Amino acid sequence: MRGKHIILGITGGIAAYKSASLARLFVKAGAEVQVVMTPSAKEFITPVTMSALTGKPVVSEFFTANTGEWHSHVDLGLWADAMVIAPATASSIAKMAHGVADNMLITTYLSAKAPVFIAPAMDLDMMAHPSTVANIELLKSYGNHIIEPAEGELASHLIGKGRMEEPERIFDVLYRFFNDTDELAGKKVLITAGPTYEPIDPVRFIGNYSTGKMGYALADAAAARGAEVTVVSGPVEVKPSHPGVKVVKVESARQMLEACEPLFDEASIAIFSAAVADYTPAHPATSKIKRETTDLPSLELVKNPDIAATLSSRKRPGQLTVGFALETDNEADNARHKLASKHLDLIVLNSLRDSGAGFGCDTNKVTVFSPQGVVADLPLKSKQECARDIISLLTRYDPITH
Ligand code: CTP
Repeated sequence: MRGKHIILGITGGIAAYKSASLARLFVKAGAEVQVVMTPSAKEFITPVTMSALTGKPVVSEFFTANTGEWHSHVDLGLWADAMVIAPATASSIAKMAHGVADNMLITTYLSAKAPVFIAPAMDLDMMAHPSTVANIELLKSYGNHIIEPAEGELASHLIGKGRMEEPERIFDVLYRFFNDTDELAGKKVLITAGPTYEPIDPVRFIGNYSTGKMGYALADAAAARGAEVTVVSGPVEVKPSHPGVKVVKVESARQMLEACEPLFDEASIAIFSAAVADYTPAHPATSKIKRETTDLPSLELVKNPDIAATLSSRKRPGQLTVGFALETDNEADNARHKLASKHLDLIVLNSLRDSGAGFGCDTNKVTVFSPQGVVADLPLKSKQECARDIISLLTRYDPITH
């Protein structure tokens, strides 16, 4: 994305607030972003926010009122490597479809020579109306790329199709477009994510603070490269933002291993990012353990299976397995030891000593080891960016030459 020129068109819908995150993702990836807003978009998000994020004044009118400076939609259209309209309301979609050039955004759209990506956002009934459906078909017939809206709760509180796709996902579409990254097309990727819950009795469990954010970010990043991704996930709140990612929900480590077994055999890449509980109660009570028992209950624990080690030990040639190591002391030594003892090709080390890394954070700072040594030392970045870097590394990684 570095150096790419992106026009970010914003129209007047509630989802306009998400355009701020989208602009930030483009800028952080090194792109130059020029925001063009319709007059009504300014009712939803201010031009000041957008110009602060992009470092460029927002264009909205045909000319600046006090100076008379003319904003050339033709020049803008030539400058752009891609134009993204997010959110695109029903009204702007109709104007684009029929060439109703009554604002700067539509004139820029009509002048754009670069590929155009449109992320509709509207209420479910507007989305389903034959007029909108026909207009979207027209836009497709012009060669525009439609980033289909997701199903979910809408601003009206109704549930249905019409919610603008998440900024991360729109970013991925553009990222793939610029990087032509389909390296993982046709490949199956298995990812374990989240914590496991080990039952003590029907209402209590042993668990940990893992939120699954890193595992799900890896799943999104792999799916963005064309992979067929399945996440076998412990109990978490987070959801994949890429619609192609399949999720199999489990609770305990044993269930996680059971769900992974058949998927592992088919996978080209397996990434073990779950924080699996090492021990589980030997005899979970079948009814709730009561406070007023005569004896203080003691918890006998037994070892859980090591999912990464079990599956990696039966790896077939060409299959790549990647583990994670979350450490507080002797980080590099522990990570190298786990790499070898679990028969992994790569291990991603998070140190809990690094602020901004580890459970629950939105950021991560990792070092990736192969049996030969450090293959990447990534600075602190968002879990999404970190995931993209790890997936890029995997697509290039050849265990034979390393
Ligand atoms: N792992 C696993 N199954 C387990 C334990 C760990 O699949 N029962 C995987 C994790 O998903 C991770 C790697 O092994 O990819 C290392 O996990 P970690 O908890 O750091 O290592 P442990 O082997 O549990 O060692 P320790 O807790 O003693 O540091």
